[in-house]
Amino acid sequence: MGLTVVCGGFFGDEGKGKIAGYLALKDKPEIAVRTGSVNAGHTAVYNKRKFKFRILPVAALNNYSRLLLPAGCLIRLDVLFKELELANSRDRLGIDRQAGIIENKHIEMERRDGVMKGIGSTMQGVGAAMAERVMRRLKLAKDIPELKPFLTDVATEVNEALDKGLGVIIEGTQGLFLSLYHGTYPFVTSRDTSASAILSEVGIGPKKVDDVILVLKAYVTRVGAGPLPGELSEEEANRQGLVEIATVTGRRRRVALFNIELAKRAVMINSATQIAITKIDILFKEATGKRQWEDLPSKAKKWIEDLENKIKVPITLIGTGEEILDTIDLRRDKLGP
Ligand code: GTP
Ligand code: IMP
Ligand code: MG
Repeated sequence: MGLTVVCGGFFGDEGKGKIAGYLALKDKPEIAVRTGSVNAGHTAVYNKRKFKFRILPVAALNNYSRLLLPAGCLIRLDVLFKELELANSRDRLGIDRQAGIIENKHIEMERRDGVMKGIGSTMQGVGAAMAERVMRRLKLAKDIPELKPFLTDVATEVNEALDKGLGVIIEGTQGLFLSLYHGTYPFVTSRDTSASAILSEVGIGPKKVDDVILVLKAYVTRVGAGPLPGELSEEEANRQGLVEIATVTGRRRRVALFNIELAKRAVMINSATQIAITKIDILFKEATGKRQWEDLPSKAKKWIEDLENKIKVPITLIGTGEEILDTIDLRRDKLGP
């Protein structure tokens, strides 16, 4: 299966967690890497249990993938150890020696900062720690005694696995329009969220990528401040059943209908080879829980086919519910074995 990168095409919360979880269960990759940091919450529902991951790859839910945190990620020790307990995946974890460490002072720095408030930051200390990394004063994983048992060289592990033909999934965080470079600056997060940046966080060159799966939700949401073209009023979002609550901060997500212009730009900048559409069940209730294309209501099929014609990238995965396995997988039909 080679290397698959999962990235977000809107403003985050497209459902990368669920899609990465599905791939982890179905493709059984030898390695799963999660980039980014604790501001990004990935929700996965498996066997009716809800898991909210802020640092581990969702592949923690299977019991075979090696779980890696790369040099470009930022770790908070409290969040890491809590998740390790929950997912019981201590023996499979590797942390790059050069991964960055968020300390309490970074959270305090953000709380005191008017700009961070203005953009609606999640206040998890991520931006402040990233700034200190740029100033070359941030602690790294190798400086933390509790992390010693987990330390590794993630770039070498991943590149060697790929050279042997093993499977690797990289789980990106947030979405293209929250990117520090390509997003709606200054209303963005503190890293580039595009596929290329995800690779760079891990230490893999662009020629090693087999697939870039761009995750798009059937409508657009945004938490925090900044432009959201076509934003619906709260009443309209309620009426259409499009209300969501953010995983990390508990804030209500702002909502707009699906935006083809944003989607096309995200395809271009991420060089997407496949699209995953999540939450089709929210637009078309009769789609709920369906796992075969034939079982989708015709309106949902038409919506997806029209989108595929416009976007010109195969839509290979379709989310029909929160549960990871509530997914229609068209990869074989559309791409071959
Ligand atoms: P970030 O890295 O923070 O951008 O998060 P994310 O892309 O992993 O998304 P997140 O889990 O924060 O939000 C997506 C929400 O939609 C979660 O509550 C998921 O359980 C839910 N979800 C994902 N796919 C589907 C789907 O196909 N149908 C339904 N009903 N819910 C879904
Ligand atoms: P920060 O990265 O926590 O400082 O937040 C900066 C902006 O990005 C705010 O508008 C946040 O709401 C948004 N943001 C950061 N991480 C996520 C995420 O994982 N999902 C959705 N929005 C996010
Ligand atoms: Mg999220």
